[in-house]
Amino acid sequence: MREPTFQYLTNLVRRHTGMVYPRERTAYMTQALRPLVDRLEAGTVDGLVEHLRQTPSMALVSTVVSALTVGETYFYRDAHVFSYLETRLLPQLLRRPRLPAIWSAACSSGQEAYSVALALASANRQHPLPRIILASDVDQAAVGRAREGVYTQFETSRGLSGFHRARWFRKDGDGHQRVRSELRDMIDFKVLSLCSSPLLISGSGLVDPRYPPVFDVILVRNVLIYMELEDRARVLEEVARYLAPDGTMLLGAAELLPPGTHGLRTVMEEGVTLIRKG
Ligand SMILES: C[S@@+](CC[C@H](N)C(=O)[O-])C[C@H]1O[C@@H](n2cnc3c(N)ncnc32)[C@H](O)[C@@H]1O
Repeated sequence: MREPTFQYLTNLVRRHTGMVYPRERTAYMTQALRPLVDRLEAGTVDGLVEHLRQTPSMALVSTVVSALTVGETYFYRDAHVFSYLETRLLPQLLRRPRLPAIWSAACSSGQEAYSVALALASANRQHPLPRIILASDVDQAAVGRAREGVYTQFETSRGLSGFHRARWFRKDGDGHQRVRSELRDMIDFKVLSLCSSPLLISGSGLVDPRYPPVFDVILVRNVLIYMELEDRARVLEEVARYLAPDGTMLLGAAELLPPGTHGLRTVMEEGVTLIRKG
């Protein structure tokens, strides 16, 4: 990959997602873009970028960004966090007069949002719940997959118990499993970059245009790590504008509040790191 190609691609990804690609990851980028290079018969990544420069289309830009984002995810990732949600936080929130609102802010192919839906369903056994989860990601293809809710056997074997698979999924041919609609109907899916400035959540059924959307729980997990250090605090503060005053934010299990973040603090509860306002 030529230097101008690397610069072009890293700028593109940075602009759309905030993600930074170090030079050492060139081999990974080349591998990630290979299927697209072949599909467009561009020969090389340099050829692909040349094509992109000559015929810049939003669809192609979105496919390139999608190929270069890191979407690694699985159900109940960091099981202790979901067990805390299921047994502590969600039951508390479900006892309030209004239903809680939850946002999975970098949902990838949906496993995180479905894990929240499963935790909610377990915490609230009496009746099905309406649409109270927003799941968003910058990667359009990932959001499409999340919305579809169809997973391979490998994907459903990662993190899900046999009970959950039997109760909430049905066979969908080819060894795939489809999430049951009761669970999927709890989630609103949306393409959204956390780096858009200002960060505006609109067009979501969960958000009433008359009021600023306020979420009781926001999951911003395993996404800030890919951003430039100085961008992380700004992105998190922007996301926190949508957090209820007594709301809870969750980062990835290995992530800390970025240095220099204002208006947020870390709280430990039952071995789980929570981010709260104040
Ligand atoms: C490693 S996955 C984490 C998925 C899930 N949160 C989890 O913890 O399993 C990171 C996700 O962040 C998304 N992402 C990267 N930059 C983003 C941005 N600026 N706005 C929204 N999503 C972004 C990627 O597309 C990818 O799906």
